[in-house]
Formats: sequence, C-alpha cells, structure tokens
Amino acid sequence: MAKHSNAGQSQQPGRRTLMQTIGLYTLYLLTQVLGIGMISLGCLWVNKHLGGMKLDGTPEQLFNYHPVLMATGMLFINANGILFYRTGGCLKYSTQKFIHFLVQLTGLGVTLAGAYAAYTYHTLKHIPHYYSLHSWLGGALIVTQASGTLGAFFVFLWPQGSYGFKRAVLPLHTFVGAVGFVLAAGVAITGVTEKALFSLTSKGQEYRDLPAPALLLNAFGVSIVLFVISVVYLLTRSDYKRPDVAVDRKKD
Ligand code: HEM
Ligand code: HEM
Repeated sequence: MAKHSNAGQSQQPGRRTLMQTIGLYTLYLLTQVLGIGMISLGCLWVNKHLGGMKLDGTPEQLFNYHPVLMATGMLFINANGILFYRTGGCLKYSTQKFIHFLVQLTGLGVTLAGAYAAYTYHTLKHIPHYYSLHSWLGGALIVTQASGTLGAFFVFLWPQGSYGFKRAVLPLHTFVGAVGFVLAAGVAITGVTEKALFSLTSKGQEYRDLPAPALLLNAFGVSIVLFVISVVYLLTRSDYKRPDVAVDRKKD
C-alpha cells in the first residue's frame, strides 16, 4: 500500500523537522519586527502630530497614551502570550502555562492603563462616555479580556482544577482568545480612523488631502493589519504547534 506523503508535517510524533523549526523562528522574528514597527509608528504619530504623551500635561497629551498602550497591551503583548505556546517548546508544559498567564496578565494591565487614559480624557473634557461604536466594541473587548484572564486563571492554574474540566474548556478558551485578538485589531483601526477625523479637522486639514499626519496614521493602521496577519498565520499552522503537548497535558 502506498505511504501517505508527510510534507509539511512532523516526521516523528513529538518532533518538528529542522525546516519547520527554521520556518517558525524566522516568521516569529518577522512578527516581532512588525509588532515593534507598529508600536513605533503609533509613538511617532502621537509625538510628531498630536503633541506627545505626558501624564501631567494637557488632557490631549494624556489621551495620546491610549493608542500606544492599546496597541502594546491588546495586540503586541497579547500576541506574545499566545505565541509562547509556539516558541517556548523547550520548557515544561506547566512552565509554559505559567508564563502564558503572566504575559497575558501584563497585557491586561497595559490595556487597562490605556483604557484609563481614554476614559479620563473624556471625563476631563466633559465628553460623554461610551457613545461611539469604537468605545462599545472596545469596552466589550476589555471586559472579555479581563474576565477571560481571571476565568482562565481559575480553570487552568488553580491547583484543584480537574483535568477533564480543563480539557472541556480549552477549545472555548482558544476560540475566544484568538477571536478577541483579531477583533482587537479591528477595534484599534476604528479608533485610528476616528482620531484621524477628529484631529485633522480640528487643525483645518482634510483627511482626503492626505497630509503628513494622515500618511503616518494610515501606516500605523496598515502595520496593525500586517502584525495580526503574521500572528494568525503562526497560530493556525498546525505543524508549528507544540508537538508533544498531549503527553505533558495529562499531568497538568
Ligand atoms: C486574555 C487573556 C488570554 C488570551 C487572549 C489567551 C489566549 C489563548 C489562545 C489563543 C490559546 C491557544 C494557543 C494555541 O493554539 O496553542 C491559549 C491557550 C491556552 N491558554 Fe490562554 N489566553 C489568555 C489567558 C490565559 C490564562 C490567564 C491562562 C491560565 C493559565 C491560560 C491558559 C491557557 C492554556 C492552558 C492553554 C492551552 C495550551 C495548550 O495546551 O495547547 N490562558 N490561550
Ligand atoms: C484594541 C484597542 C483599543 C480598544 C480596546 C479601545 C477602547 C476604547 C474605549 C473603551 C474607549 C472609550 C472611552 C470612554 O468612552 O470613556 C475608547 C476611546 C477612544 N479611542 Fe480607543 N481603543 C483601542 C485602540 C485605539 C486606537 C489605536 C486609537 C487611535 C487613536 C483609539 C482612539 C480612540 C478615541 C479617539 C477615543 C475617544 C472617542 C470615543 O470614545 O470613541 N483607540 N477606546
């Protein structure tokens, strides 16, 4: 009987081929470059065209933390927490799980700081809270991320958690985590567009004329999309998954 071709798959259960490992780490590096590029473009935009970031400055300067911290917490750190299951393969499963938890908790802290900047800006400027589509979707995502982190802590890390329950919840956890990450990019882009319209109009500029700030904020938006595409690619390549996880999971 003819043997099935194994192209693109691990040759031995529990091991990635050399080419798969090289592919994974090359793409991972590219993803990091895209992520750092995304945060740098956000910083460049708010520093060059929106008056910079300052805690004790004007309300606008406080607000400027919002795009940068949201891109850092909800996208960059969140993605790194998720991808740790791809790159931390040399560690024990329980260690990977703990680091995943710590990174997601850090991401949540940065996200909450970013949300606080936008919320306080609204309060200081007497702008109503939660009127825009961006703030509705963004608020819902923040609540989902916070409750997901808390819930996952009790399900996956709490010492008394049962293995069967963990197995049952995992597909939902993975689905909500991945969808939330992709949606965060969409929400961030609605925020960038909103800010483009507010900030350019208030300076007497038109978005459609594509002045320098518009070019930069468009580039920031494009970098968000490229970053998310690269993360989702790494996440969905089945041959990049941690190969021997099923064995370890039985203990955790
Ligand atoms: C907002 C916070 C979180 C997000 C967005 C998130 C997202 C994800 C995603 C997308 C996966 C699938 C990764 C893969 O396919 O390999 C995953 C796996 C997992 N996460 Fe989370 N996670 C979060 C918080 C947590 C926390 C707090 C824990 C507690 C320890 C946790 C425990 C796990 C476990 C055990 C897995 C399974 C890994 C495996 O066995 O393959 N997660 N998470
Ligand atoms: C996933 C990332 C993001 C989330 C979850 C998010 C969430 C939020 C939330 C909840 C508010 C409401 C604050 C309030 O009503 O008091 C808000 C406001 C705002 N955000 Fe974001 N944001 C994100 C990214 C961004 C980015 C990248 C920008 C780009 C500048 C941005 C621009 C704005 C603007 C202009 C407001 C004030 C107007 C409004 O309430 O819609 N956001 N954001």
